[in-house]
Amino acid sequence: MKTRITELFGIEHPIIQGGMHYVGFAEMAAAVSNAGGLGIITGLTQKTAADLANEIARCKDMTDKPFGVNLTFLPTVNSPDYPGYIRAIIEGGVKIVETAGNNPAPFLPYFKDAGIKVIHKCTSVRHSVKAQNVGCDAISVDGFECGGHPGEDDIPNFILLPRAAEELTIPFVASGGMADGRSLVAALALGAEGINMGTRFIATKEAPVHEKVKQALVAASELDTRLVMRPLRNTERVLTNAAVERLLEKERRLGPDIKFEDIIEEVAGVYPRIMMDGDMEAGAWSCGMVAGLIHDIPTCKELVDRIMAQANAIIRERLAGMV
Ligand SMILES: Cc1cc2nc3c(=O)[nH]c(=O)nc-3n(C[C@H](O)[C@H](O)[C@H](O)COP(=O)(O)O)c2cc1C
Repeated sequence: MKTRITELFGIEHPIIQGGMHYVGFAEMAAAVSNAGGLGIITGLTQKTAADLANEIARCKDMTDKPFGVNLTFLPTVNSPDYPGYIRAIIEGGVKIVETAGNNPAPFLPYFKDAGIKVIHKCTSVRHSVKAQNVGCDAISVDGFECGGHPGEDDIPNFILLPRAAEELTIPFVASGGMADGRSLVAALALGAEGINMGTRFIATKEAPVHEKVKQALVAASELDTRLVMRPLRNTERVLTNAAVERLLEKERRLGPDIKFEDIIEEVAGVYPRIMMDGDMEAGAWSCGMVAGLIHDIPTCKELVDRIMAQANAIIRERLAGMV
């Protein structure tokens, strides 16, 4: 399949694996890129810029296909070493960066000078347009269904994607709720030129996470995610567990007075415990509603090939047969 996204990034299939904290290691990115999609290393999971440089080198040892690095701009007081991470990306020869969180404008000149393509992930049409105006090459439009941070507008992809298509001239991919060939065809129909998947890629053989995490996704239904931290305007869609229900109870009890310190036990330092140790009650971890569509744990290649075969069949047989 050829779209503006496959052309922009030099990939075979219009399928991207979004940055994921404590999932997006070199093994994950390389497996997706080797399957013909675009794998992405999660920059901030690497504690230092030197660690990121090492992770990029490891990924290059595992694939000669294009892969990217995610840089999430956090609204934290103690900012991570972004200049160092950017240097590691440029010196590592990475040609694609997925930005997320805040406006990437301050960092774009460095990427442009190095010939790096930037895809910015955001959850609203206004932020998409802003990213286009400041010079991003593509957008990942992240709907309300998504795992992770859906923003505060709560607009699902059936509305968000065609609205983005009305406003954007640069290519965009549909992110949030994407799982299979049906998702891809729907995304294309709504104006996107590919899909970005997070949660679905965690339930693959190569995802470098504890087996219990993958089994939790297979077991979960579309009813099993919760929105946490809404009162802090830092909403995150997570898989429910005892810690998440405790967190929500605190939110109900403390109301608008709640502070980050009140829920620190349920959210801080959770990712290594979940993803590496398989301690499934450790706290809140991002997961999309798409869990309801995850029924198995294929290899990345099996998953990507299956998506493409199903999409082709839907377009050529089911849809063509209707017109
Ligand atoms: C476990 C997990 C961790 C994530 N961590 C990040 C992150 O660090 N930075 C980021 O930009 N997006 C992150 N995301 C969001 C994904 O890149 C992607 O946008 C999202 O998962 C798409 O929705 P889906 O899960 O329905 O496919 C994360 C998602 C998950 C499920």
